[in-house]
Amino acid sequence: MTHDEQHLDTTPLNEWLKGRHALTGLAPDWDLGAIPDDPRTLFATWLRAAAADRVPEPHTVTLATVDADGLPDARTLILKRIDERGWAFASTRSSRKGAQLAASPAAALNFWWQPQVRAVRVRGRVEEATREESAADLAARSPAARAEVADGDWVLWRIVPTRIEFWQGSRDRRHTRVIFDAAAGGWSRTIVGGRADLTSEDGAT
Ligand SMILES: Cc1cc2nc3c(=O)[nH]c(=O)nc-3n(C[C@H](O)[C@H](O)[C@H](O)COP(=O)(O)O)c2cc1C
Repeated sequence: MTHDEQHLDTTPLNEWLKGRHALTGLAPDWDLGAIPDDPRTLFATWLRAAAADRVPEPHTVTLATVDADGLPDARTLILKRIDERGWAFASTRSSRKGAQLAASPAAALNFWWQPQVRAVRVRGRVEEATREESAADLAARSPAARAEVADGDWVLWRIVPTRIEFWQGSRDRRHTRVIFDAAAGGWSRTIVGGRADLTSEDGAT
């Protein structure tokens, strides 16, 4: 630590932070009476809506993992695909996240689409895709990006979700959350907050 850092006065920064506002975007209409049974359908709708509203790079996402000691880590990644098995991202096996996923194959994703006051959380165990899928993902990258990767190091992983939360903020602070929990043969769904005609824990199927 340098002399300057030891004497860093963070008071102005903290004053500035105190004056910041959040949740200043404009939430789209959300019909809570028409929530699909499959969270991937709702996610696809929200992702498309974010893109249509020109949310910058709505497919970028924070990925959280834990290391062998249980210490969390997080970084930004690109969402590569979403299919019947889960949400996929790609990186190198030799990276920190690669080591963390080998030691503890579970992760969480967090999307935040500020202009729409929307966030999505996905968590679950992580599975490695087949070698063919990882190779296909690598092949789709630019030659320059491919050149940086050692043979066999590129991996596509999937989060197989056990819980997915859709959150939408509201100017009147009646924020809404729709939570999907994996249940036998499908999903159980809980709506928290939101519309005045819904109770605070209005469980649906
Ligand atoms: C917008 C954005 C997208 C990124 N996409 C990826 C990605 O798809 N795969 C990847 O390995 N790193 C990506 N990175 C870099 C990661 O954030 C991270 O720095 C890197 O993967 C090393 O992480 P690790 O040390 O936790 O393994 C991206 C960074 C940003 C800011």
